[in-house]
Amino acid sequence: MAKQGKKPKPLEAKMLELLRQFAGDRKAKAMLARLLDDDAPASRVAEEVARLPAFERLYKVARTTNIGVDSVRDADPAFVGLVDYDAEAPFREQFARSFRPRLAARAEGFEVLFQALQGLGRSPFMVETGCLRIPDNWEGDGQSTFMFDALARDTGGALFSIDVGAESIDTARKACSSATQLIENDSVAALHALASIASRRIDLLYLDSFDLDASNPLPSAIHHALELTAARPLVGSGTLVCIDDYSVGSVGGKGMIVDKFMAAIRAEVLYSGYQKLWRIP
Ligand SMILES: C[S@@+](CC[C@H](N)C(=O)[O-])C[C@H]1O[C@@H](n2cnc3c(N)ncnc32)[C@H](O)[C@@H]1O
Repeated sequence: MAKQGKKPKPLEAKMLELLRQFAGDRKAKAMLARLLDDDAPASRVAEEVARLPAFERLYKVARTTNIGVDSVRDADPAFVGLVDYDAEAPFREQFARSFRPRLAARAEGFEVLFQALQGLGRSPFMVETGCLRIPDNWEGDGQSTFMFDALARDTGGALFSIDVGAESIDTARKACSSATQLIENDSVAALHALASIASRRIDLLYLDSFDLDASNPLPSAIHHALELTAARPLVGSGTLVCIDDYSVGSVGGKGMIVDKFMAAIRAEVLYSGYQKLWRIP
């Protein structure tokens, strides 16, 4: 309510003031004129505002100040569509009851992968490229990051997941617990840096970044070969390497180059289907 004795600001002046916050002085007047024009949809002005640096700054200030540090962050199963999920159950049960029935073409591959990882008898150190980007997209993408996070939570293991996309990282952060470390960067650069500081070999390298174009698989296949090159110092005898989208098209999908390397070093093939899984000799 306006203070007594003070003339209330007309609605237009208030709108102008609001637009100045989002768009700065220069653009605010033009935007207001367009808003007052009956033919101009407000949604178009809203989209324009959302792209402006002044709006981004306001958004960042509102969303980044006074953030408390909560060191133990839980996973959010509801976020990835799991309503019947028992986070306290052993991983084996979680996989059988909640994950496997949703995994469609990847069900068998992940079953073999998790059996091999659990067979190691130690807390696994896992590295993945391409993180969970769309919540509840079990059949389409696999929700790998949520499952690796569940295994890390159950066994005291660790997961590093690398993705170049801020939106994908945001999704994975919302889904996963603090057992998962997320790195927002190109996977080749990040794996190279990780390899230069990690003091132990990894147990799993899961490669699922650069989307495959089935009619032009080479760019994706080359990127995944570069990932393996960058991660090579982390990969030793016994390390499991898995590549997603393998049997897409007839030539090995994302793994068409990695496959040749694995054959040359006589890596043991543990699974070949929608995904391909090797154990390094
Ligand atoms: C297929 S999705 C990963 C799906 C995820 N593994 C799952 O199971 O839900 C591919 C991801 O790779 C990321 N990506 C594409 N190019 C990349 C690059 N050069 N470095 C790192 N990540 C990349 C994309 O941002 C996207 O989030």
